[in-house]
Amino acid sequence: MTSEPYLSELFSLTDRVAVVTGGSSGIGRAIAVALGRAGASVVVVARREAELAATVEELTGHGCRAARVSADLGTREGVRAAAEEAVAAFGEPDILVNSAGINLRPPLGELGDDVWDATMAVNLEAPYLLGQRFGPAMAARGFGRIIHITSQQAHRAFVQSGAYGVSKGALESLARSQAEAWSPYGVTCNTLVPGFVMTPLNRRLSSDPEKVAALAARTMVGRNGLAEDFAGAAVFLASRASGYVTGQSIFVDGGFSVH
Ligand SMILES: NC(=O)c1ccc[n+]([C@@H]2O[C@H](COP(=O)([O-])OP(=O)(O)OC[C@H]3O[C@@H](n4cnc5c(N)ncnc54)[C@H](OP(=O)(O)O)[C@@H]3O)[C@@H](O)[C@H]2O)c1
Repeated sequence: MTSEPYLSELFSLTDRVAVVTGGSSGIGRAIAVALGRAGASVVVVARREAELAATVEELTGHGCRAARVSADLGTREGVRAAAEEAVAAFGEPDILVNSAGINLRPPLGELGDDVWDATMAVNLEAPYLLGQRFGPAMAARGFGRIIHITSQQAHRAFVQSGAYGVSKGALESLARSQAEAWSPYGVTCNTLVPGFVMTPLNRRLSSDPEKVAALAARTMVGRNGLAEDFAGAAVFLASRASGYVTGQSIFVDGGFSVH
């Protein structure tokens, strides 16, 4: 007996098209590669050309179909143009992953309108606009998967959550609203919640060995997260297997949130 046909029935993404924002780095890049290796054609969206090209190269190196769109998701026009460019690569997506995000970190008391606006634009409005663009078409086709990357700061204040925590809390609410709207038509909408992951986003914290060790000690697994830790959960949420999982926040944090 071989388990491959069964695993494929559950998890294969063959013939699916995925759009992954933030695919130039960190968690988004790892998820893009995971979805591609599970069979999807993947379009990565972010600003930096060379980094996007590196992700596409990694994907094509695995034999995957991949394309890139360089765009600034910090403006509505940028998001709208990126969506159309992404569709031009492989057609309308079945899977949307919103991993692009910024964490500018001024404490709430020092927050200016500029940081608030930039944070909401990239972390919340871009996922909202992409959902509005792709969600109804997924519903009309009877299948879709929307996956947002939020943060433990959607659930608790942590080292100056400022505007960032607010944007991530709202993003989890967006997932629930989207789930309510489109789940009856086969479109599930969920969030993956990281703990502390060693990516360029938190370069400053990651370069302080004492802080890194203290954060690792707060997990149950005993180490901080790696971008690759999101591969399995992302493939699951993108696949047929997760058809009855919607509106959920799934923590991929080594037990950080429950310690
Ligand atoms: N690392 C952690 O500990 C952690 C914890 C909780 C949540 N998260 C969340 O996980 C997600 C991924 O973060 P990461 O840790 O993988 O960080 P990262 O390596 O810094 O990646 C962030 C991504 O967002 C993209 N991005 C930022 N601003 C953009 C803009 N205006 N337009 C288009 N793309 C933009 C970046 O691409 P370009 O610079 O090329 O545009 C990059 O691909 C984020 O939503 C973050 O909030 C991370």
